[in-house]
Amino acid sequence: MASLLPLLLLFFWCTFLGSLGPALAAETSDAFLLLTKIKPALQGGAAGAENLQLSSWNATVPLCQWRGLEWAVSDGSPLGCDDPAARTNLSFVGDPSFQLTVLRLPAAGLSGTVPREIGELSSLRSLLLGVNSLTGSVPLELGNCPALADIDLSGNSIAGALPPSIWNLCGRLVSLRLHGNNLSGALPEPAVPGTSCEHLRVVDLGGNRLQGGFPGFLAEFHGLQELDLGSNLFSGSIPDSLGALANLERLNLSHNNFTGTLPSFRGAKFGADAFAGNNPGLCGPPLGECGGAEPGVVKMTRLSSGVVAGIVIGLMAGLVVVASLFIGWVQGRRRNRGGKTAEEDEEVGGGVDEGTGEGKLVVFQGGEHLTLEDVLNATGQVMEKTVYGTVYKAKLADGGTIALRLLREGSCVDRASCLPVIRQLGRARHENLISLRAFYQGKRGEKLLIYDYLPNRTLHDLLHESRVGKPMLNWARRHKIALGIARGLAYLHTGQEVPIAHGNLRSRSVLVDEFFVSRLTEHGLNKLMVPAVGDEMFAAAKADGYKAPELQKMKRCCPRTDVYSFGILLLEILMGKKPGKDSRTGEAVDLPALVKAAVLEETTMEVFDVEVLKGVRPMEDGLVQALKLAMGCCAPVAAVRPDMSEVVKQLEENRPRNRSALYSPADTRSEIGTPF
Ligand SMILES: *[C@@H]1O[C@H](CO)[C@@H](O)[C@H](O)[C@H]1NC(C)=O
Ligand SMILES: *[C@@H]1O[C@H](CO)[C@@H](O)[C@H](O)[C@H]1NC(C)=O
Ligand SMILES: *[C@@H]1O[C@H](CO)[C@@H](O)[C@H](O)[C@H]1NC(C)=O
Ligand SMILES: *[C@@H]1O[C@H](CO)[C@@H](O)[C@H](O)[C@H]1NC(C)=O
Ligand SMILES: *[C@@H]1O[C@H](CO)[C@@H](O)[C@H](O)[C@H]1NC(C)=O
Repeated sequence: MASLLPLLLLFFWCTFLGSLGPALAAETSDAFLLLTKIKPALQGGAAGAENLQLSSWNATVPLCQWRGLEWAVSDGSPLGCDDPAARTNLSFVGDPSFQLTVLRLPAAGLSGTVPREIGELSSLRSLLLGVNSLTGSVPLELGNCPALADIDLSGNSIAGALPPSIWNLCGRLVSLRLHGNNLSGALPEPAVPGTSCEHLRVVDLGGNRLQGGFPGFLAEFHGLQELDLGSNLFSGSIPDSLGALANLERLNLSHNNFTGTLPSFRGAKFGADAFAGNNPGLCGPPLGECGGAEPGVVKMTRLSSGVVAGIVIGLMAGLVVVASLFIGWVQGRRRNRGGKTAEEDEEVGGGVDEGTGEGKLVVFQGGEHLTLEDVLNATGQVMEKTVYGTVYKAKLADGGTIALRLLREGSCVDRASCLPVIRQLGRARHENLISLRAFYQGKRGEKLLIYDYLPNRTLHDLLHESRVGKPMLNWARRHKIALGIARGLAYLHTGQEVPIAHGNLRSRSVLVDEFFVSRLTEHGLNKLMVPAVGDEMFAAAKADGYKAPELQKMKRCCPRTDVYSFGILLLEILMGKKPGKDSRTGEAVDLPALVKAAVLEETTMEVFDVEVLKGVRPMEDGLVQALKLAMGCCAPVAAVRPDMSEVVKQLEENRPRNRSALYSPADTRSEIGTPF
């Protein structure tokens, strides 16, 4: 090992300036979301009137003492708050691995609104906020919650139409209670006809101002045990299929304007009061015999003018909601005219989408088959939350799968400043990049980037999660992965007229396929962020260990800072250690410092991951050269870092000799916990 010393001493200038930023509660953590968005929204604008329950949600209060909440740890099991040590542990608040599973504050005097950030709580199972004074509407984003099973917002003053995205929750939804609010408009239909919401047991929408015909799709919900549509403005006939719901035990259709013949319910389970107060035309057991509809006609003519006005107003409210529908995975039949081809878009340019109610889809090479309708009707599931926003895996109606990245709100202000960057990203095509296929901006400013979906693992998972059957990452494979990343990055920096900085290179933004081809994601997204948002996100991302030291002041990502991130990433690949804050100890892991210390102590070979060293001669196989290269890339002085084409060249010149090690299929990890 001593022979390596002169080689590595070269890099001693690579000292770190200052330490990494202070420990920030990961800004995508559920606790952070509760404090910054959900609490203020639930509390309402009324300053001064601090809510007793909500005041316990405070970073100075141990997480386990926040009222009305239940949490899970990262493997999904409940966080045991009964344990006295846990009850008083203040560090929990900053631990992003805790996920909110239950939000239960019934009758708590809440007077705000249901915040749309609820849609970002990826593990929330129960949302129970009944008997409060919440106003506003049911947010569309609620349909994004991948785990939500129980919703109870009964006894509030929530108005507006129910968003179509509510049926996105079908896969998990068990109960939907919205009794006694001020909901209006027709009930939205699920996107896919015949949806059965198999776990759904309770639908209670009674005591609102919902209208339209009987929502026939409810008869497809075969597991339904309780259905309350009482005291609304529904009209028309009740379909026979409702009688076929075998599990239905409680039914209330009273005080609407239903008419026609009642379906026959087996066992005559429901009394007349379940149907009382409807149009006199409603008949059949348990109500009276059908036949004489005349009294109804008389009554109708007397009431008509007020009712018609009510219906027209209701319909208009419904239309406004339809026009401002959220993006993706919200349903409803969309007209085909929304789908535009690339050519059409290029011709119409910006600005025409104002006021038409539809957003616009810009498609790029390889995305020509996508239409706006496809994208808006796709059903999605959350894959990842990142600083830039949420990534969904979305199924198209034709069976294809795409990856959708919904950018955070306030990312880029206007289309004009966004589109040139988007167009450039849409032109970037390289084997080591995930291609951007289309871009959508909705009327409300929501922005969606559409990529190929690849069912690959991230480099982060490959490196840090040992699982049976996962490929062994010997040096030949790691070298191939690193070279792919370097080539992708070099292409971004020099492959087009205007250089693109990646901006957020890290092991989680690299996908690796089964042949160890690596592909970059998230490239260029920092360019889309307005400066204020970008800086705020940057500060939060600083703790991850990939950011160049000079970025602290400059706050601008450029190719040189990408090279730094690449250096850290290459060290991560060689050492098998995560940079940045350790999630268990909370300490910042400084990979370059570890290497320097090892070189001084003449234990250089010990920095490498054991898996890397198997059957490798470090000098001849380019391993030491790679370590040297990585240290060069994370030089604190930007000017002395190599550029990416130099990095590619060096990696190509210093390859492992034994190429067959790339392909040996037997090389999988066989035991959990050991790297062999
Ligand atoms: C949190 O609690 C502290 C002390 O108990 C208080 O000073 C502070 O205002 C609270 N913060 C919020 C946001 O309520
Ligand atoms: C408090 O929680 C942190 C983070 O979850 C953990 O690392 C630490 O060991 C806990 N401390 C105690 C005293 O339980
Ligand atoms: C319900 O909403 C309507 C307007 O849409 C409003 O006039 C009415 O006061 C609301 N009712 C309640 C009880 O909030
Ligand atoms: C149906 O709901 C109404 C209020 O909407 C209530 O007064 C009535 O008792 C309910 N009937 C049944 C059978 O549950
Ligand atoms: C009930 O429905 C009929 C049509 O079936 C309509 O003419 C009438 O105005 C409605 N009445 C009320 C009170 O909504």
